[in-house]
Amino acid sequence: MKELDITLRLQSLAPEELSEQERALVHAAMAATERSYAPYSNFRVGAAILLDNGEIIEGANQENVAYPSGTCAERSACFYAGARYPDARFKCIAVAARGTDGKFTPLPTAPCGACRQALLEYEVLAGRPVPVLLAGADAVYRIPSVASLLPLAFTEF
Ligand code: THU
Repeated sequence: MKELDITLRLQSLAPEELSEQERALVHAAMAATERSYAPYSNFRVGAAILLDNGEIIEGANQENVAYPSGTCAERSACFYAGARYPDARFKCIAVAARGTDGKFTPLPTAPCGACRQALLEYEVLAGRPVPVLLAGADAVYRIPSVASLLPLAFTEF
């Protein structure tokens, strides 16, 4: 028997340690929380995706009275990016969230499993790692790729 370890190495950064481009993307994700529709959870999430054509696509969670019909911020952003610019490739993703108190969560909010799977597909299309910036009020986690957030992912069929 062999035991295998899968580890996630990430960087925890103060906002001023981000590059200018990363800071702009984090700001876009934070601004996108304002466009969340979350009357049921009051948890407002924003996502921003930098494309290789220079565009930044933003998404926010959109809830529905039939709860499972709602969509997370990350999926609203990645599906919008795919629908708007089908030939563009993802370069970087940022996510931010405000809790029920309306303030940005002190620690970063991480994408749910379904969003990790959805985002991974666009990383595969990009053909290179797409870094993910998870922004909290006190720290930003820089994750090297979507794949690193979804070990043993299903990518082949
Ligand atoms: N949500 C997101 O938009 N992204 C995540 O990564 C986690 C959860 C949304 C779904 C729901 O509208 C609300 O946050 C509370 O779960």
